[in-house]
Amino acid sequence: MALTDTDLSVPIDWRDARFAPMLAELQGHILKHHGRDHSIHLLLRFDGTAEQTKPALARIGENVLSALAQLRQVAARKSGGAQDGGTVIFLYLSASGYAKLGLTPPDDPAFRDGMRHRGDLADPDVSAWEPHHAEAIDALTIIADVNDTEAAAAETGFLPILDAGGIAIVGRDVGRALRGPGGKGHEHFGYVDGISQPLMLADDVADEAAQMGIDRWNPAFGPGDIALVRDPHGVSPDSFGSYLVYRKLEQDVRGFKIAERALATAAHIVDRERAGAMVVGRFENGTPVALSGSDMPANATNNFNYAEPATGNDPDGLKCPFQAHIRKTNPRGDTGDGDSERQHLMPRRGIPFGERSDVWTNDIDATKPDHGVGLIFMAFNQDIGRQFEFTQSLWANNPGFVFGRDPGLDPVIGQGDRDLQLWRERWGDATAPTWPFQFEQFVHMRGGEYYFAPSIGFLKSLA
Ligand code: HEM
Repeated sequence: MALTDTDLSVPIDWRDARFAPMLAELQGHILKHHGRDHSIHLLLRFDGTAEQTKPALARIGENVLSALAQLRQVAARKSGGAQDGGTVIFLYLSASGYAKLGLTPPDDPAFRDGMRHRGDLADPDVSAWEPHHAEAIDALTIIADVNDTEAAAAETGFLPILDAGGIAIVGRDVGRALRGPGGKGHEHFGYVDGISQPLMLADDVADEAAQMGIDRWNPAFGPGDIALVRDPHGVSPDSFGSYLVYRKLEQDVRGFKIAERALATAAHIVDRERAGAMVVGRFENGTPVALSGSDMPANATNNFNYAEPATGNDPDGLKCPFQAHIRKTNPRGDTGDGDSERQHLMPRRGIPFGERSDVWTNDIDATKPDHGVGLIFMAFNQDIGRQFEFTQSLWANNPGFVFGRDPGLDPVIGQGDRDLQLWRERWGDATAPTWPFQFEQFVHMRGGEYYFAPSIGFLKSLA
């Protein structure tokens, strides 16, 4: 019997046979990050006829890793198997890709418009995007592996398929994870990333409960409430897909690090580490600044909220400013309606890009890159307007959010006119003075698109 909305309204036990048909049809990387440190992203344009392109997409589809196969790999690795899972491949279509195939695109309005036509995001004009992103893109394929030579070899293997399908490679983004102490993934400003995620698998919720506790922040989400939509071209009632938001975000690391010091000076904050933590909401090692005024001991927990009666850690923003990146993008109770806030979250699946010639872990600002590195932000959405676009435009870019506090833009990802913001001198001290400082914009959008991750059965049916 086909899965119902109720079946998908709580984290799923993927070993339950009821979910097997859906998971075998669903592309991997949606319910859980694929975990490979090297990924090649090919931006594709369909130059041939639909009849020429479809069989090529079907051949790629045969190689796409399903969610079921991915989860089995993860389970095998956890139980001591040495295997790395090998190269993985995913394939996503844009609205123009569907149109060129002669198919009606899935019906999300933002997806159908395309990212470049969505004015509310305050994105730079397309003329300022990287040239390959400025072109119309019909599809995106991701080829990822634990090492770069294997990923490159798999890419080479795909070239004849693309060629035969009349599919041109318009551009290529290369993702490369930055690993810090303990193998944790960092973004280029130096902060641990990927700690707080909506969890859609019962296993992942159980792990987070055991490691951090979940009584102050509940990371559990039903996949059908946050990521999955029925694939309109699916071959079975259990064919699901998801919308992928893809944004290439360049980071001026030197500028950001210098601004952290300038903020520390301006707000008389003794250590630069806490100044940075007030900007991001966590210290570089992941410790939430709502819980601690210093990053010792390391405590990259996710079990906290800001404003819930009884358990909230910081209802008045005395520890973590209201403008901090993680507070703007997940207010954890600040609006007084935690349930409705949760509807805007999304599973993030990004990976850093760009080579570093400096030692990225050291503190020498002058050696840091001011361009050429950043984050390939990727997030799966059930409804792009309700999730990504709401978060970017109505929270991050909105100086008035959280309402009544007027904290200014999200200093990390906010786009739009910036103004002075207030920063508290001493952590958690209501009597401490606050100082005005304008944190400039060091993340610049260089292009992006909305895609749909169709079900594997649909891709194969194009043969
Ligand atoms: C270069 C750009 C970005 C950087 C450097 C960055 C950095 C970070 C860092 C360091 C964290 C803390 C780690 C964690 O809690 O998982 C984080 C969390 C988060 N980021 Fe970003 N991020 C970027 C772009 C974005 C964008 C574009 C969005 C959405 C519009 C976003 C939404 C979030 C959310 C929802 C969280 C989790 C907040 C929470 O649950 O507490 N980020 N980001």
